[in-house]
Amino acid sequence: MYQIIDGKKISAEIKIEIAKQVEEIILKGEKRPHLAAILVGGDGASETYVAHKVKACEQVGFKSTMVRFAEDISELELLSKIDDLNNDSDIDGFIVQLPLPKHFSEEKIIRAINPKKDVDGFHPENIGRMTLGLPAFVSATPFGIVELLKRYKIETSGKHCVVLGRSNIVGKPISILMSQKAEFANATVTVCHSRTQNIKEITKQADILIVALGQQGFVTADMVKNGATVIDVGIHRVKSDKTKSGWKLLGDVKFDEVAEKCSYITPVPGGVGPMTIVSLLKNTLLAAQNKIEF
Ligand code: GUN
Repeated sequence: MYQIIDGKKISAEIKIEIAKQVEEIILKGEKRPHLAAILVGGDGASETYVAHKVKACEQVGFKSTMVRFAEDISELELLSKIDDLNNDSDIDGFIVQLPLPKHFSEEKIIRAINPKKDVDGFHPENIGRMTLGLPAFVSATPFGIVELLKRYKIETSGKHCVVLGRSNIVGKPISILMSQKAEFANATVTVCHSRTQNIKEITKQADILIVALGQQGFVTADMVKNGATVIDVGIHRVKSDKTKSGWKLLGDVKFDEVAEKCSYITPVPGGVGPMTIVSLLKNTLLAAQNKIEF
């Protein structure tokens, strides 16, 4: 019988922990943690994500600022706003919601963010620090996955962790974190991607399978070892005539058939997704408290 890794429940617990820390900060007479988010253009999914982030700030007692720009603003205008936020002492951390419209160099924009305020952990300095095992802002999804493994006390040391996907936001950082010499890491890691051959032969060896490919229903029961832990990072909105909204959310894993083989599995929705947002809140709190030593 498998156990669900309940990201919704854990994220609610973490929000309560953060809210308590905010109360203590305010009682000490210090300033309220403050997160800003920049949204360029009107991408529907990005609008929803940023709205969730702003709402989560309210829930824990953070101040939040949403900065909106039209799709056609220039790179210079965006860089100028980033400069303002870098120098605004009331802002502890900020994010630029990705993807940006095509005329922007995302790399250039991310590099303009002060690493000390880069609560998304996307700046090369934070990625480099994380890779070296130095204090760093770790990007939200990998941070959330590690937190789930910790809170469910899932053994990772010496285990074979197979990561499907090599994106800068999830696959690459989680593969580095899982192989790190640290508690809740120390795994033997294999990274698979679009060019990997005989992928099933590799996934069947996984004690921990982390799936971040962005392909709905990619992982089927025959790809999973008995007793494995499966972490599904995928999120896909598909049409459904069984829900009121006419839509449902599905992951990269065929949950119904795969779950039976697992010891632990994350559902979609309610697994990794809610953890991503609380990880951003955690990073903002760390920034507000100057807890990451640069
Ligand atoms: N787009 C998709 N995920 C993220 C994220 O975690 N942060 C930002 N800034 N943009 C994203």
